[in-house]
Amino acid sequence: MKAEILALLRETEVYLSGQELCEHFHVSRTAIWKVMRQLKEEGYVIEAVQNKGYRLISEPDLLTSSALAGSFQSMWAGCNIVYREETGSTNIDARKLAEEGAPHGTVAIAGQQLAGKGRRGRGWVSPPGENLYFTILLRPDFYPSKASMLTLVMALSVAEAIKGKWDADIQIKWPNDVLCNKRKVCGILTEMNLESNYIQYVVIGVGINTNQMEFPEEIRDKATSLCKELGMGLSRAELLKEVLSCFQIRYDQFVKELDLNFMKVAYEDFLVNRGRMVKILDPKGEWTGTAIGINGEGELLVEQEGRIQEVYAGEVSVRGIDSYV
Ligand code: BTN
Repeated sequence: MKAEILALLRETEVYLSGQELCEHFHVSRTAIWKVMRQLKEEGYVIEAVQNKGYRLISEPDLLTSSALAGSFQSMWAGCNIVYREETGSTNIDARKLAEEGAPHGTVAIAGQQLAGKGRRGRGWVSPPGENLYFTILLRPDFYPSKASMLTLVMALSVAEAIKGKWDADIQIKWPNDVLCNKRKVCGILTEMNLESNYIQYVVIGVGINTNQMEFPEEIRDKATSLCKELGMGLSRAELLKEVLSCFQIRYDQFVKELDLNFMKVAYEDFLVNRGRMVKILDPKGEWTGTAIGINGEGELLVEQEGRIQEVYAGEVSVRGIDSYV
């Protein structure tokens, strides 16, 4: 009943009559009043006026499934939201949900991660309440070799969402770090589960530094948050909505094409490395060249002494010559 009342409050421009709510839900005035009290405790500001009813004045920035109910109507991405105030890692939560049969498009969200996972076995700093940590579960019907491209699809979706809504200076550091003013605001970790060489499911975990203001010393020169760069707090719920709607569009295009040529131009427009000298940190040996773009497989094209080399993301890292970008 709480989620339904919240939805009614949101869509009512004037006052929502207490009497009508009682009749609609076949409950007493006290039951309605209790729901209103719960909502207020969660941070919703609700005006109550005698003989008129209730009116929603403002909402807290919550990511719970009842707060997000209705946000992803008519979308497959976000069709099922599973929120935990505190968890180890949303990637692990999403994998567990997948094993339990959760549908394509399920999103696991957390207020805080105690063991957030980064790429290459690193961690992801995930303090409570400030940032967005979520993982989307996908059940694609294509070969495993295609799955790594989804990371670039998500990076582009995050970049498009932030640029489109907040007009920030957003770039992508190949393959999948999203930067604001040349510092990292978002990391993406894709993992898949195979069974006899078919994809059972893929999970794409996204961490966006949203409202965090302080960063540990060792990452301060490389990492930032949208709030720090834009000079204003952002609603995590709104950010999630934007990212998922951009991702749904880009993913649907991707499954039709199964290569990245359809988004090459858009991705390269965001690509911070484009036209720059880069250092390729390959376990077989470090080398330098000029990054020129990506190919349809999502590999970075790097020109070295007149030859174009294709760099596959799996093993290597890319850096600027003297710095992170
Ligand atoms: C990176 O190293 O750049 C990738 C970081 C990915 C972090 C996100 S936060 C939500 C999801 N859950 C995790 O444990 N990791 C990803």
